[in-house]
Amino acid sequence: MTTVRTRVAIVGAGPAGLVLSHLLAGAGIDSVILDSRSREEIESTIRAGILEQGTVELLDGVPGSRARTVGSRHDGIELRFSGEGHRIDFAALVGRAVWLYPQHEALRDLIAARLEGGQDIRFGARVHEAVGADSDTPAVVATTADGGELHVEADFVVGADGSHSVVRRAVCGSHGGYFREYPFAWFGILCEAPPSAHELIYSNSPDGFALISQRTPTVQRMYFQCDPEADATAPSDAEIWDTLQRRVPGHALAEGPIFQRDVLRFRSFVASRLTRGRMAIVGDAAHTVPPTGAKGMNLAVADVVLLADALESLLLRGDATGVEGFDVRALTRIWKAQHFSWWMTSMLHVAPDASAFDRLRQLGELESVVGSTAGSTYLAEAYTGWPL
Ligand code: DHB
Repeated sequence: MTTVRTRVAIVGAGPAGLVLSHLLAGAGIDSVILDSRSREEIESTIRAGILEQGTVELLDGVPGSRARTVGSRHDGIELRFSGEGHRIDFAALVGRAVWLYPQHEALRDLIAARLEGGQDIRFGARVHEAVGADSDTPAVVATTADGGELHVEADFVVGADGSHSVVRRAVCGSHGGYFREYPFAWFGILCEAPPSAHELIYSNSPDGFALISQRTPTVQRMYFQCDPEADATAPSDAEIWDTLQRRVPGHALAEGPIFQRDVLRFRSFVASRLTRGRMAIVGDAAHTVPPTGAKGMNLAVADVVLLADALESLLLRGDATGVEGFDVRALTRIWKAQHFSWWMTSMLHVAPDASAFDRLRQLGELESVVGSTAGSTYLAEAYTGWPL
């Protein structure tokens, strides 16, 4: 058995854990990160691609971040319904933007920068328990890649360990949290084709939702609403293109070979509490949002900006008020983002049991958003992200 001592033990080398270690290091607070996955697995998992302006500004402080150079700035999106597109002009409405930069690329930048800065990251270390939340010496117990037992003793433990969080059990006990399931999922593809549009298209059609996103000049990312039980391997490429074209009426999509397919389940979740004594949970460990609007990674970053500030007060000045107030401050943004993600989802998708009334009301809602500066401004403000 090996014992390591650090100030903050961070479980999870995703966006939340890596950004937290970066902010703590900036304040002179050392940390150890543990993740059950390998570096290669973390860097190759395909996730969403939209970074809020505040997220990009924060990544500007990470040496070597390519968010602004490889990523591309988007000053608006298109909302499409009844066969017509309507641009939501972020620049004109709120003077802010988002960046299209895939999450795994941001993770590659973060891991490289943290390792370069001397960060201790234990890949392949599976944490099975977080203990001592109510003491001054919380710890995590893990099994390392070579089968050894590792204890990390710390002044504070942070669970940034995703939706199957181990640390959440120590923080929330049996209380769990608040859930919502949705009667649909997204069928996602990556294809070799030129972009079908310069900006993202969020399209509502009588057959259901589709999202046209991009990756590079030669690779595109697209999604369409599907049954949660759908088999990603079942449809042919031709069937997928037929579905996508029908879901974006009036806009021809550039087709090409599909080289990756996946089905993304939808869920909303907020944990019953985010802190307990000297432990906290952040990112997907604390909440899950449906993907419409791409809030997941951005919300994780917002959590850790608050937490880093609270930990700096606690660990450098012995002031616990930031940690004590963390739940209320973080949950305010989390529930706003939950609402926005739920709203975008319900406004754009067609529920399997939707009546004619539901469908016509939905079109009335979409008209209210695109036809009103107040309506469009709310969307622009929430999509580009409330200031951190
Ligand atoms: C992407 C994913 C989203 O959930 C979204 O709202 C926008 C873009 C993407 O993967 O490109």
